[in-house]
Amino acid sequence: MDPSPLKGKVALVTGGASGIGAATVALLAAEGATVVAFDVAADELARVVSRVAKQGGVARAKRVDLGESARIPEAVAEVLREEGRIDILVNCAGVFGEGGSILELSEKDWDRVQAINLKAPFLLIQAVGRHMVERGGGGRIVSVSSSSAFRAPRVPANYGASKAGIGQLTRSAAADLGPYDINVNAVAPGLTATPMTTDFGDGAVLERAVAEGPLANLLQRVSQPEDVAATILFLCLPASRQITGQTIHTSAGAVTL
Ligand SMILES: NC(=O)c1ccc[n+]([C@@H]2O[C@H](COP(=O)([O-])OP(=O)(O)OC[C@H]3O[C@@H](n4cnc5c(N)ncnc54)[C@H](O)[C@@H]3O)[C@@H](O)[C@H]2O)c1
Repeated sequence: MDPSPLKGKVALVTGGASGIGAATVALLAAEGATVVAFDVAADELARVVSRVAKQGGVARAKRVDLGESARIPEAVAEVLREEGRIDILVNCAGVFGEGGSILELSEKDWDRVQAINLKAPFLLIQAVGRHMVERGGGGRIVSVSSSSAFRAPRVPANYGASKAGIGQLTRSAAADLGPYDINVNAVAPGLTATPMTTDFGDGAVLERAVAEGPLANLLQRVSQPEDVAATILFLCLPASRQITGQTIHTSAGAVTL
């Protein structure tokens, strides 16, 4: 096995400051990629990047608020100027929104969640996809969906709808970019132990939700950010070259029940 299968590749990972995104930055860097991480949380992102450096990897931080759509093509152009190329895009940044019943959801929160969870991945796939095509093709794109897109009537409608949108964005982009040897896939995590879910309560609440709740999983253990990052890595490796347009569930079977 190649000890550094991503050596020479440049990966752009959004949401790199925390949770699944931070685990993905660390793993892709450990596999040899130069990782450029976008996040709005500049201090946390700086900490992730310095941890990677201590472990011998290469990661760079770029503060980008993905809610500001005009900033996205500009930030991609900066990465291309600084690194010369992008081989891998991972759309991981996401927000859960304020929550609540559809009777109370505000239009403002609907727009904010769609902007970060769905419009930003579209704009990033477009900007990075254009670069990959202009460069002669080849590349990997992975976006983070959620079990909530499949079987979770109790998640807020704005969050669930944004994640369901990732599935179709992925299929459409896979069709448009397939002729250029660009694989476009998604991963759909179930409940995963990150700051997004620890906000729901203490660890015991998360454990109970996994065992008994609507997202109960077959393995009866809470997914860790590294579990999801490992599947994202697989979708960036030569071994997955015939997989495109798919959403791979990393929910320990939750949505297959
Ligand atoms: N944790 C779970 O149970 C779970 C389950 C399914 C899907 N997901 C998805 O996984 C992805 C990662 O979530 P996580 O659980 O690691 O959460 P997290 O809160 O730990 O990380 C999300 C990251 O996105 C960043 N972010 C938020 N808004 C941003 C913006 N406007 N611009 C730039 N960055 C922004 C945050 O600063 C944070 O670093 C999200 O898309 C989430 O919806 C998580």
